[in-house]
Amino acid sequence: MVWKRTTTGDGRLNTRKNILITGASAGIGAALAQQYANASTRLILVARNQQRLENIAKSCEKSGSDVICISLDITDTNVVQSTISQIDDNYPIDLIICNAGTTNSIGKNGEAETWDDICRIIDTNLYGVLASLNPLISRMQQRQQGQIGIVSSLGAYRGMPITPSYCASKAAIKSYGEALRGWLAEDNIDVSVICPGFVESNLSAQFHGDKPMMISTDKAASLIIKGLNKNTANISFPFPLNLGMWFLAVLPAGIANWLMKQFSYGATRK
Ligand SMILES: NC(=O)c1ccc[n+]([C@@H]2O[C@H](COP(=O)([O-])OP(=O)(O)OC[C@H]3O[C@@H](n4cnc5c(N)ncnc54)[C@H](OP(=O)(O)O)[C@@H]3O)[C@@H](O)[C@H]2O)c1
Repeated sequence: MVWKRTTTGDGRLNTRKNILITGASAGIGAALAQQYANASTRLILVARNQQRLENIAKSCEKSGSDVICISLDITDTNVVQSTISQIDDNYPIDLIICNAGTTNSIGKNGEAETWDDICRIIDTNLYGVLASLNPLISRMQQRQQGQIGIVSSLGAYRGMPITPSYCASKAAIKSYGEALRGWLAEDNIDVSVICPGFVESNLSAQFHGDKPMMISTDKAASLIIKGLNKNTANISFPFPLNLGMWFLAVLPAGIANWLMKQFSYGATRK
């Protein structure tokens, strides 16, 4: 774990909004960091790759933000909990966006996922999110204030045959976020589940299938921020794909699986 702190030294430190973003070294997380960067924010950026975090931090600092970079593997759940507690002691978190995530798929000829891949996905996308939030929930309850964004996926609505563990992990955190929203509303803590469709990134490059209506990371970040500002329960986009995934979830399984095969998300044998 590496801490890096920058300050403007202008006395505004204690009035800044403290925003923690996991998975901020690339993709959607990096775009969120850049869009949140201004003189009113302190960004706490978490990911494993310190060099990439530093690069994002530099551009955020240029926009006036204070930045703390934390090199951390979110699958290291004990370290995650103690680190986030330490951060919160120093900089009470106003908003956490649990965005770090990873994926894989079955083989092109329908080969099974490896156990290592399954564990990496569940450890990152599920336990990593739970560990990031666990120390903060009671602290936010005590403060009677806070906001949580959980980045799930449209793949949470209906398991896609080529990405079984990924969809399972995203369905789990979607459900967790929905539960948190109901639980924590009385504590004045806002919780949003974020379900993007295809966003151009290293992660989406790993999907074998078609990527209809793919958007840029900048566009995704601006839609997420707009939704969080409105405290939207479920920030899903783009709308047509969102509607399509919702339909897949209510259609009979045979029809849904046939449809997914047409978009190359069904299990095929070449
Ligand atoms: N792109 C899409 O089409 C799409 C669609 C739906 C949902 N999503 C979700 O959006 C989120 C962001 O995805 P993205 O497309 O921006 O992917 P990305 O470009 O691959 O970025 C993933 C980020 O997560 C971090 N990360 C991965 N494993 C980590 C770990 N064990 N510990 C700490 N950080 C870790 C990576 O940083 P390091 O490698 O430096 O650790 C990186 O900053 C993910 O949760 C993803 O499932 C993406």
